[in-house]
Amino acid sequence: PEPPKPLMVNTEPEPEVDDGKKKVTIFYGTQTGTAEGFAKALAEEGKARYEKASFKVIDLDDYAADDEEYEEKLKKETLTFFFLATYGDGEPTDNAARFYKWFMEGKERGVWLKNLHYGVFGLGNRQYEHFNKIGKLVDDTLAEQGGKRLVAVGLGDDDQCIEDDFAAWRDLLWPELDQLLQDEDGATVATPYTAAVLEYRVVFHDRADASLLDNSLSQSNGHAVYDAQHPCRANVAVRRELHTPASDRSCTHLEFDISGGGLVYETGDHVGVYCENLIEVVEEAERLLGLSPDTFFSVHTDKEDGTPLSGGSLPPPFPPCTLRTALTQYADLLSSPKKSALLALAAHCSDSSEADRLRHLASPAGKDEYAQWVVASQRSLLEVMAEFPSAKPPIGVFFAGVAPRLQPRYYSISSSPRMAPSRIHVTCALVYEKTPVGRVHKGVCSTWMKNAVPLEESRDCSWAPIFVRQSNFKLPADTKVPIIMIGPGTGLAPFRGFLQERLALKEAGAELGPATLFFGCRNRQMDYIYEDELNNFVESGALSELIIAFSRQGPQKEYVQHKMMEKASDTWNMISQGGYIYVCGDAKGMARDVHRTLHTIVQEQVCSFIKLEFVARIIECTRGVSVHPPIV
Ligand code: 2AM
Repeated sequence: PEPPKPLMVNTEPEPEVDDGKKKVTIFYGTQTGTAEGFAKALAEEGKARYEKASFKVIDLDDYAADDEEYEEKLKKETLTFFFLATYGDGEPTDNAARFYKWFMEGKERGVWLKNLHYGVFGLGNRQYEHFNKIGKLVDDTLAEQGGKRLVAVGLGDDDQCIEDDFAAWRDLLWPELDQLLQDEDGATVATPYTAAVLEYRVVFHDRADASLLDNSLSQSNGHAVYDAQHPCRANVAVRRELHTPASDRSCTHLEFDISGGGLVYETGDHVGVYCENLIEVVEEAERLLGLSPDTFFSVHTDKEDGTPLSGGSLPPPFPPCTLRTALTQYADLLSSPKKSALLALAAHCSDSSEADRLRHLASPAGKDEYAQWVVASQRSLLEVMAEFPSAKPPIGVFFAGVAPRLQPRYYSISSSPRMAPSRIHVTCALVYEKTPVGRVHKGVCSTWMKNAVPLEESRDCSWAPIFVRQSNFKLPADTKVPIIMIGPGTGLAPFRGFLQERLALKEAGAELGPATLFFGCRNRQMDYIYEDELNNFVESGALSELIIAFSRQGPQKEYVQHKMMEKASDTWNMISQGGYIYVCGDAKGMARDVHRTLHTIVQEQVCSFIKLEFVARIIECTRGVSVHPPIV
């Protein structure tokens, strides 16, 4: 037998076993799993191509316990890849936040990554202002600190086909990696690689085995910390329609009861809500799969002997349940299928012509057809499956590789804990629209909210697993700083929270600076939501000025930005006093137009100012615009 190891006397970490292979570390910062999936796909393909390299995929949060460890470990890396999603207002994902803060603050470290070759693939959405900010900044900073960029930063765009962006970036990468990782004799390992179809191991159970049922979801109890992985069960206390019957649309005001005290929030935070698919959608999925809704099963990411399944970019599974429950709570059935899902379906078609067509759609040759027939037509997964009736994926394949995990939906909380400490209010417009192929798309969560049964109507009320996500959308710390809020439609939601907060502060004796709200809706009689409350905020002094743009009331459209132009000089005054500007709502149309209008206002006001004032003063004020007030 081996002699016992002597006690370690030095504090050096144990050296990693040198198997002669070149070490490649692949990091990911992921929110919904896409970055993680790409990181694992790169590793799988890398392993197949390069026998002389070992690939390790790692969550950025798990890499190091603190800043020193990040530095110590990163210093030793020689070949790394970063898959980094940007979300929200140009922020890193939760699991990359600690690394990102440490890394970006470390400019003074100088050129310390000279031994590092690296590549960055960013995941973002071009519709947002800070498109791929995190990926771009980390890529630049790695280069500044001495790293050698193997390939230009990949800019994955989720608004188009992010899988294609990843494939294109990977194609640029292989020739570079060949140079670094090729065999000694100079030949690269030309193993043709096809991604494996992902599959959970499935165990079918006898329904009678009640011990398997999941009781992990707890009600707010004052002790637990809740997050996306550990949501809190919250009853719907109140639900009411905010539009009048004259409106042909719907907007729901919903209040979640968090009175247990464990779930807390701040004004301006977001609530994440796990919702359920409609029964008609679930039944259609059961029909297409050809399986009984009562099938009771569990899914596993390991083999029976406990070793991990190969090929696995599998998300953590869900607890044992019936197929009906799994389809209702865990499967995204209405988004367009990814190309990898089409390949998984193709692998389980009994009709070979259907399989060929699915493979074609997922191939580079079928790129345009996929963009048109799937993405632009907004065909849902179920619609695609209906077109390929011979595709009958088994349960393990369906949940691992075909239907993505149903994601929580995020809403700006429309209350303030100072006014509603035991409630989280949500203001949610119903998504109900015809897709290009004629299907009526009913938004999963907005439809659930519209149909929710509140506690005030029934003891058997609706409930949902929810959690709070902190945001940067906060009132200024100094209550005297002027604020301008621009929020048409449900963009009003966080400002209702702000105004509740200001009212509570005022009642507690705080001195408030001026606050202007620009709100927009179609018509006073249809969709002027929270009208009485807004008037009360004005009366009580929480709101100094309420300016409404009605877009479908007069002879021509009036939008919030038109009203802002009318108030250009007041707006400028507030900006130049260090005021904060907040915009919330439709990012594609309204927010861009408002941004442009703000530019015009500042330009015009500065120009008229030049005519009146001394140059020295102007510099001070223009500097005030660009540096002082953060435009949120
Ligand atoms: P519309 O539907 O009549 O065009 C809330 O949805 C309000 O925002 C509605 O009055 C809507 O007007 C308006 N809106 C639509 N597009 C906008 C844009 N680009 N800028 C500002 N407001 C807009």
